[in-house]
Amino acid sequence: MTRKRIIAGNWKMHKTNAEAEEFAVNLKVILAKIGEDIEVLVCPPATAISCTARVLDKTDIKIGGQNMHFEEQGAFTGEISGVMLKGAGATHVMLGHSERRHIFNEDNAMINKKMHAAFKANLIPILCIGETMEEKKEGLTSTVLENQLKGCLEGISKNQAQILIIAYEPVWAISNDDPTHKPATPDDAEEAHSFIRDVIEKIYDKTIADNINILYGGSVNPGNAKAILDMKNIDGALVGGASLKPGEFAEIVAAAKF
Ligand code: PGA
Repeated sequence: MTRKRIIAGNWKMHKTNAEAEEFAVNLKVILAKIGEDIEVLVCPPATAISCTARVLDKTDIKIGGQNMHFEEQGAFTGEISGVMLKGAGATHVMLGHSERRHIFNEDNAMINKKMHAAFKANLIPILCIGETMEEKKEGLTSTVLENQLKGCLEGISKNQAQILIIAYEPVWAISNDDPTHKPATPDDAEEAHSFIRDVIEKIYDKTIADNINILYGGSVNPGNAKAILDMKNIDGALVGGASLKPGEFAEIVAAAKF
């Protein structure tokens, strides 16, 4: 079974429009020929989606949002809806990133509403799940992952599940100011990915589980990408820090070649 590979860059709260445009101009040149079996996508901050999309128009590089509200419009100061992301040029949207869960208190029920809204807006959701270090130490990784999947996928149909993307991002592996954070070993990541695929089979069926793209995220860089991407159940990477420089990001894309 060969699933396509997906390398997605999560810029988080980085880059002004000028910086985003400069990045896109460079990336376009470096990745002029992406292999057909690799999908590349960048997720800029909402303000920079349309200018990035303009530069990357007519390339194979796709654009994603990092978050959205579950309503289409209304009195929600500071929020952005799926139709707005779509209108700005996004084809994908990340939902349930651990920074949204832990800093902005998003729970599975809210993420589930956003999942439904994303499909309604014709966006492909990248559903992020992952356990904290505390949960891992208590042996709760599987329970947490299964609860997140079941909660966030409530009411999502088989047809919708066929196009959605999952990103496994153990919170303890995401690079930030915490010096204890380090990438999962390829074997540990593989074990979690294989478990996630089993849960998807339980919720849906074997065909959907066999075809779904499960990305790994958490301190992926040009040095460790290949070993991680070589694992059987890892279909790509969601890259934060190392996606901010076009050269480094392109090296990770190159590591994804079969
Ligand atoms: P990182 O971030 O690659 O900087 O660890 C990944 C993410 O949070 O999506």
